[in-house]
Amino acid sequence: MVDRNGLDRDASAPTGPTPTHSPPESFVEQANVAAPGIHDEFAANWPDCWERAADLLSWEEPYDTVLEADDAPFYRWFPDGRLNAAFNCLDRHLESGRKNHAAIRWEGKQGERRTYTYRDLYVEVNEFAAALRDLGVEPDDVVTIYLPMIPELPIAMLACARIGAPHSVVFAGLSADALATRMDAADSEYLVTCDGYYRRGDAFNQKSKVDNARIGLEQDVRTVVVDRLGDDLPHVLGEDEWDYHELRDAFAGETVEPVSRDAEDMLFLMYTSGTTGEPKGVVHSTGGYLAHVAWTSHAVLDVKPADTYWCAADIGWITGHSYIVYGPLALGTTSVMYEGTPDYPDRDRLWEIVDRNAVDVFYTAPTAIRAFMKWGADYPDRHDLSSLRLLGTVGEPISPRPWSWYREHIGGGDCPVVDTWWQTETGAVTISTLPGIDDMKPGSAGPPLPGIDARIVDEAGDEVDPGETGYLTIGRPWPGMARTLYDNDERFVAEYWRRFSDPDADAWRYFSGDTARIDEEGYITVLGRVDDVINVSGHRLGTMEIESAIADVDGVAEAAVVGRSSETGDTEIYAYVSTERGWDADTAIRRTIHDSIESTIGPIARPAAVIFTPELPKTRSGKIMRRLLEDVANGEQLGDTSALRNPEIVGEIQAAIGDDD
Ligand code: WT7
Repeated sequence: MVDRNGLDRDASAPTGPTPTHSPPESFVEQANVAAPGIHDEFAANWPDCWERAADLLSWEEPYDTVLEADDAPFYRWFPDGRLNAAFNCLDRHLESGRKNHAAIRWEGKQGERRTYTYRDLYVEVNEFAAALRDLGVEPDDVVTIYLPMIPELPIAMLACARIGAPHSVVFAGLSADALATRMDAADSEYLVTCDGYYRRGDAFNQKSKVDNARIGLEQDVRTVVVDRLGDDLPHVLGEDEWDYHELRDAFAGETVEPVSRDAEDMLFLMYTSGTTGEPKGVVHSTGGYLAHVAWTSHAVLDVKPADTYWCAADIGWITGHSYIVYGPLALGTTSVMYEGTPDYPDRDRLWEIVDRNAVDVFYTAPTAIRAFMKWGADYPDRHDLSSLRLLGTVGEPISPRPWSWYREHIGGGDCPVVDTWWQTETGAVTISTLPGIDDMKPGSAGPPLPGIDARIVDEAGDEVDPGETGYLTIGRPWPGMARTLYDNDERFVAEYWRRFSDPDADAWRYFSGDTARIDEEGYITVLGRVDDVINVSGHRLGTMEIESAIADVDGVAEAAVVGRSSETGDTEIYAYVSTERGWDADTAIRRTIHDSIESTIGPIARPAAVIFTPELPKTRSGKIMRRLLEDVANGEQLGDTSALRNPEIVGEIQAAIGDDD
């Protein structure tokens, strides 16, 4: 392969065992961003460079200031500008002649399909916004949304945005307890949910989870219920509960003026796991967030209005907020939304959808790619995937083999692949190659995006040499960054800023919680988390949350939870548990542990193994040696155990690992 500098890279393989790929000429020619000078241009012109992003939006009141930093790390972007996110995702596309262009193509679990044009979406969002307002929702009231991947989910989000009410979407697979905790933390008095949804063809009752959650809440909650299952699961509405479709009928044809929002007003809240049991309510702004997601959809995902674009994530997490809803709709493209799983009814389900919709850009997670690879190329080979122009991945590190498999078997060898690093807290992509400019190195996310000051530093905050492992930090603010943690400025500073900042010198550096390496060319390879967070299938789970769910079980004395890398490269949860005197480590307690985790967090947190041990390995000061337990789970060589108070326990644990289930 010959790159744009005329170097024959693959033939001479100068960069080691993994070949570097240049963006194909055919891609570069049509790329949204293809001028190689953009990295330097942004660096020379920071922070004003971010006007490029803000210019993708329609501002009701133009901003004068780009960045206000006097109250760092509480940065304010485009602070004197005003806009409405729903206006940017809907109204302006009606005015620009795209009213009958598909906005959302929904693919249901049971094979149902629905297409919403921008106009359809506008009509339904307005009706629901009118209904919410009638129920009493006012600007700045937090509306919780607890819906699976059905069109009413983005509709409810946009309806909230329209009336200036921040939404807090809780992933539908999380438990009643998790829902209640989040509603309580956000003082949320409004909830949009559904009767249930299909799981592998069976009707699953979501409403009963909601009823349980409401029992535990002090505040009165007004609830809207979407009837997803009809006669498959009849339900009765109680006090303060309304049927979504009846409300829509009642407000049919009504429109609501988009509420003018300050750029810094909260657009939404998204709870994520942290190092303590209490989930963090990450606050995102209206202007900076929307500018950053629109810009990265344009520059990194190369989305064009005429495209059919598919981010196969769940809107219940940040990926779906930024890259199924806000980014693509702000750009006026067609966003595919899929309710089901990749292997139902068969393992070619995604490729059938790509083929039938002629998808141009496809974005998914490494865990899915590893599954596709395991299932084999026969499944994608059944379909015509030649419409694909660009592939993306997000959520965890992807190693070169699945990266290359993805490019080869899904991308037909000629689609660039962008490995995008970001977080709930960064709001939008911050590290990635620009597909029309940068060479790709499988296994490395790439350079920081233009305008992003990502650096790998050591314990003292000094930059490490290329090739060395350090902490992934960001030295300057960026528009999509979290503004704070809901109602907890202190924790915001403590969690992300304290470690590498010098407040006295007004020098601020964001800490991501990840470790990484950088190479000579400034490409960053992200290695994983350093905090007590386990990344399971691209979802962040706090070990403390899982441990406290286990500790709630009668008879459990203590628990420690670690991540284990499975044969396929996925991370699984291993739980080590010691029981109280008089309690047998038997099947019954194991089942209760699983139940407790499912009911307090949800099925995604189910451990792959529960290992009983008479004691957990502890240091002399009584601290559980999690690192050691992680090594044991991963079958790694154990280091020095002499710091342990009870070194003899390690052998017992190793022996017990084979005995689970
Ligand atoms: C954590 C953030 C951002 C949406 C999905 C997850 C890991 C994310 C990559 C990547 C290596 C990655 C990091 C990060 N991560 N993308 N391309 N390469 N690791 O959002 O739940 O906030 O998790 O996911 O560890 O800190 P999240």
